[in-house]
Amino acid sequence: MSIGKNIDLAKKILESGDLVAIPTETVYGLAGNAFDENAITKIFETKNRPFFDPLIVHTYSVSEFKHLAIDIPNLAFKLAEKFCPGPLTFILKKSKKIPLLATAGNETVGVRIPNHSLTLELLQKINFPLAAPSANPFGYVSPTNPFHVENQLGNKLKYILDGGNCKIGIESTIVDLSLEKPIILRLGGLEIEAIEETIKQKIQVKTSSSNPKAPGMLSVHYAPKKKVILGEIESNLKKFHAKKIAILAFQKTYSSVNKSHQIQLSKNGNLKEAAKNLFSALRKFDEMDIEYILTENLPDEGLGKAINDRLKRASV
Ligand code: TXA
Ligand code: MG
Repeated sequence: MSIGKNIDLAKKILESGDLVAIPTETVYGLAGNAFDENAITKIFETKNRPFFDPLIVHTYSVSEFKHLAIDIPNLAFKLAEKFCPGPLTFILKKSKKIPLLATAGNETVGVRIPNHSLTLELLQKINFPLAAPSANPFGYVSPTNPFHVENQLGNKLKYILDGGNCKIGIESTIVDLSLEKPIILRLGGLEIEAIEETIKQKIQVKTSSSNPKAPGMLSVHYAPKKKVILGEIESNLKKFHAKKIAILAFQKTYSSVNKSHQIQLSKNGNLKEAAKNLFSALRKFDEMDIEYILTENLPDEGLGKAINDRLKRASV
């Protein structure tokens, strides 16, 4: 296994049917040829991901959508023009070229144009799109730098394309455009407010579901190994004071807890900064000698909504 910025090496490995971890602006992806069932099977096996959880297919340009999807509504082009490349995934009716294995048997496919120069260059150099889930074992926190990937999947991978720290740090927003009305299936790196402003209508959010076809929507997901307690930190400090705890706060520090056991997501209350720091913070706590992570809801607006969604799913 190696880590580097060699796009031609990444291309070679992908063309041979193997996998490469790729950087995006949201989180790192575990990528393989989306047209190749063997590569897709390797993705599921490497992550221990159940085959009922569909993959997102990545490409470099809206003009490529026609190879991946059919009956693409105008709304998709309107949103793509404004937000692609960027942290937005479209659920569209799939074309025949996308194997059902990639979509977990669904007649729809998730399509996204990631905003990272290395990965965009790679996508342009290969002649197939890349199926890529987040590059973490199934159910765990997504990786936001190459070392996160190396720690967990390093022994199963040939190459990690090093694009540094992810600028957004939280997975893409997923909008389903395959039905009559658009629906948000996952809150993520693109604020719903921005989507609503562009399509000039309120959009329904349907992220919690017992539907096992979309485990990103399961109630426990994106979870670290330590127990996450979500609520008012001050009052939970009283309840948990005798336990081994750490604090993941939005802005504040708490004098009753050891400084080395506290992380502030953004000292000056910036939600973008908080999103960028979230997954690294959860991973740091997993390496500490603690039992519980006390954390709190952030303001319920913009990226705060997506962060709160991840905290809720990570919590017990
Ligand atoms: O930001 C991201 O989207 C990252 C980067 C690598 O692009 N990818 C990512 O993939 O988060 P993954 O596999 O960890 O999460 C994708 C989620 C799945 O859990 C599933 O819920 C949903 O996307 N999804 C994919 N295809 C779908 C489909 N056809 N219908 C409904 N949901 C779908
Ligand atoms: Mg994931």
